[in-house]
Amino acid sequence: MRKKEQKTIEKLKKITSIALKRGFFWPTAEIYGGKAGFYSYGHLGKAMKNKFEEAWRSHFLKNYYDCYEIQGSSILPEQVFIASGHLENFNDPLIECETCHFRFRADQFLEDNGIDPKGMTIEEMSKVISEKQLRCPKCNSWHLGNVKWFNMMFSVSLGAAGVKDIAYLTPETAQAAYLVFKREFEATRRKLPFGLAIIDKVFRNEISPRQLFFRLREFTQAELQVFFDPETEMENSVWEQIAKYKLLLMSEGKNVKEMSCEEANKKLGLPKFYVYHLALVQKFYLEKLKIPKNKFRFRELGEKERAFYNKIHWDVELELETLGGFREVAGVHYRADYDLSRHEKYSKESQHIFWNNKKFIPHVLELSFGVDRNIWALLDIFYKEEPQHDRTLFGFPKIIAPVDVAVFPLVCRKDMPKKAFAVYDMLKKTKFECFYDESGSIGRRYRRQDEIGTPFCITIDSQTMKDNTVTIRDRDTMKQKRVKINKLVEELEKLYEE
Ligand code: GAP
Repeated sequence: MRKKEQKTIEKLKKITSIALKRGFFWPTAEIYGGKAGFYSYGHLGKAMKNKFEEAWRSHFLKNYYDCYEIQGSSILPEQVFIASGHLENFNDPLIECETCHFRFRADQFLEDNGIDPKGMTIEEMSKVISEKQLRCPKCNSWHLGNVKWFNMMFSVSLGAAGVKDIAYLTPETAQAAYLVFKREFEATRRKLPFGLAIIDKVFRNEISPRQLFFRLREFTQAELQVFFDPETEMENSVWEQIAKYKLLLMSEGKNVKEMSCEEANKKLGLPKFYVYHLALVQKFYLEKLKIPKNKFRFRELGEKERAFYNKIHWDVELELETLGGFREVAGVHYRADYDLSRHEKYSKESQHIFWNNKKFIPHVLELSFGVDRNIWALLDIFYKEEPQHDRTLFGFPKIIAPVDVAVFPLVCRKDMPKKAFAVYDMLKKTKFECFYDESGSIGRRYRRQDEIGTPFCITIDSQTMKDNTVTIRDRDTMKQKRVKINKLVEELEKLYEE
């Protein structure tokens, strides 16, 4: 095994081991052997996921236009997916071994064999597999069938009636927003642009679920559908705010280029409204989540590669050591009037609106994030080893750390634990997620908090008993400062602001 691959596997194992031991996540139904493509969050993972979702809301829903969060149904009738095109097109390439009947994803199979499958048709995949005489990954036979399409939706049968009433678990949150577009447009006082956001579970019957949170069968999406008029130019005052902002763009397989929003609009011909949202997304990753610039890029998807509903499609990719390179975590999709027009055609309910003196179907720009993939990305990117300090840590940005503050008595003697517990009790009532720990040496307690990425630890020591001061220890610098208990909340708020 090459050194790089070994490092990748070691890091993956270390993060997974911390996750299992400390309560970030574990395989669903673990005591029954688990099930591929399903993971459950423990208390730390769920706290982190909540924080990610909150950061997402506070960044994307407080925009220059109005956004509203809604919730739809996870099960939708078949007609919805006939109209949306998912029944026909939401497919992955499947291949079956004719000897052992193992079924697996053809594009991943090609990738595993060092062949780039991007943009290939199923016929081209079959041809390459046969020409290269690739063998079944399970039984090593070379009798592999032709590549076929496999629909990724889970179907369910509703009710106890003899006649089958077919519905599907929704594979994206987006459809639920399109179904209520007209009602929300009316209810929110008829203005464009406006956004409908949904953060919810979605379901995909992945052929080969793998790589932890990257190919799940049940996962959470945070999606924003922005409805707008493509003929109305963006207001200059809004455009000017980002016109000079530099985007990290990788256009059709070329190297990443830093390009201002102005250039992306003029040279790449991307609409201003689309470019504005690329900037918004990049700022979320670089400024809010503190992702290092060299680990972030937008990658353009060409005509053959992009989803069937997209006119313009750039993915957000982050470089993840545990998965061996840049991997998709989100997408910026220009779906135009594809979905609303199709729903109008199939439901026979008009999706036209009257706005700005004209009657038309609004266009949709979609920001689509896989929450779980982002959680894994944050674990990967912020995992650090510091052997000189005998510790591993997650250097999470404060807004993502599952625990904000841990409180410890230095020793379990005299009144120190009681005092420490009172401080913990006081902090628990504020906005901070707190944890109290009095077991083991103080050094080990600090290490345990570092390991889960807690930014601050408060220690109650003998001096506290004399002058009501405590120490605040910073996770990254390991430096401590002393503050009065009655100024502690204020001080922590200040540190969080920083
Ligand atoms: N509404 C558009 C849509 O669903 P997508 O590219 O299919 O677009 C959006 O999915 C995001 O959902 C991806 O960028 C990825 O982060 C996440 N995602 C997709 N499939 C996934 C899977 N099987 N497991 C985990 N996350 C997934």
